[in-house]
Amino acid sequence: MSSQKVVLITGASSGNGQAIAQLLSQEGYKVFGTSRNPSSAQPIPNVVMLALDVRDDDSVAACVGAVTDQAGHLDVLVNNAGYELAGALEELSLDEAKAQFETNFFGIVRMVKAVLPLMRQQEGGQIINISSLAGLSPVPFVGIYSASKFAVEGYTEALRLEVQPLGIQVSQIEAGFLKTPMMTNRQVATERIGEYEPWRQRALEAIRSYEEKGPGSALVAETVLKVVANDRPRLRYVIGRQAKRISRLRRFLPEGMFEKGARSSFHLDAEG
Ligand SMILES: NC(=O)c1ccc[n+]([C@@H]2O[C@H](COP(=O)([O-])OP(=O)(O)OC[C@H]3O[C@@H](n4cnc5c(N)ncnc54)[C@H](OP(=O)(O)O)[C@@H]3O)[C@@H](O)[C@H]2O)c1
Repeated sequence: MSSQKVVLITGASSGNGQAIAQLLSQEGYKVFGTSRNPSSAQPIPNVVMLALDVRDDDSVAACVGAVTDQAGHLDVLVNNAGYELAGALEELSLDEAKAQFETNFFGIVRMVKAVLPLMRQQEGGQIINISSLAGLSPVPFVGIYSASKFAVEGYTEALRLEVQPLGIQVSQIEAGFLKTPMMTNRQVATERIGEYEPWRQRALEAIRSYEEKGPGSALVAETVLKVVANDRPRLRYVIGRQAKRISRLRRFLPEGMFEKGARSSFHLDAEG
């Protein structure tokens, strides 16, 4: 068995996943990245791109199988694949809401179930879930995205407790708004309800401006590198000034004051 650490990164065709794959490969890790269309993904030097749709059990099994066939083992799984669905919660159809969870939450559940037998057998491994500040603090008008990341948070904390005795490390990364292609890849609810229109516009404009001013994917990649290199990684890595500030306020401010701040941040004050 080679001593080079083997890393599998889901959703490496764009944004954070692409930056993580690039950096880890430069740093000497054996990196497998994934895309639903690997042949059209931009090649990354020394990164093997595999096909993966995290919504599909067979695709997940084939992807993990391809890594073990080619590398013999798997040390690190980075669950990064995801997308953002915008719309007032009432505007979302149940199918749209379920689809968001199918990728952002059950995609992680599927990947974790596929790699754990291997990691248990190896008596070691590492799982890093790319959560979000939206999993610690609600974001209106992308509320279902936020809910999917809150679900990731609870799942990751419980998973860490369960698998740490088996020598498997689990961490999650919470970045605030970032300037990545997710802004343009965002999906939007099909239904529109007139009463939400001005509020949706205000909130989405605020989000867009935070994303425009936000850091890029390099910050996420540098953090993942630190976590992978750490023998005893923490549960949580909050990254970026905005995310650090908001997560601190969320913990220490009384609920009413925090909510007032959130309303103002997303321009949801009647007079705002
Ligand atoms: N951008 C932000 O502000 C921000 C902030 C905090 C956290 N995050 C998180 O960071 C992660 C990556 O986001 P990003 O900003 O880099 O977005 P992005 O540039 O749109 O990249 C999303 C990646 O996910 C993959 N993907 C989407 N659906 C998939 C599916 N069903 N199966 C497999 N792969 C799928 C895409 O690959 P293909 O289309 O090639 O399959 C793509 O590589 C997400 O989990 C996101 O929630 C983003």
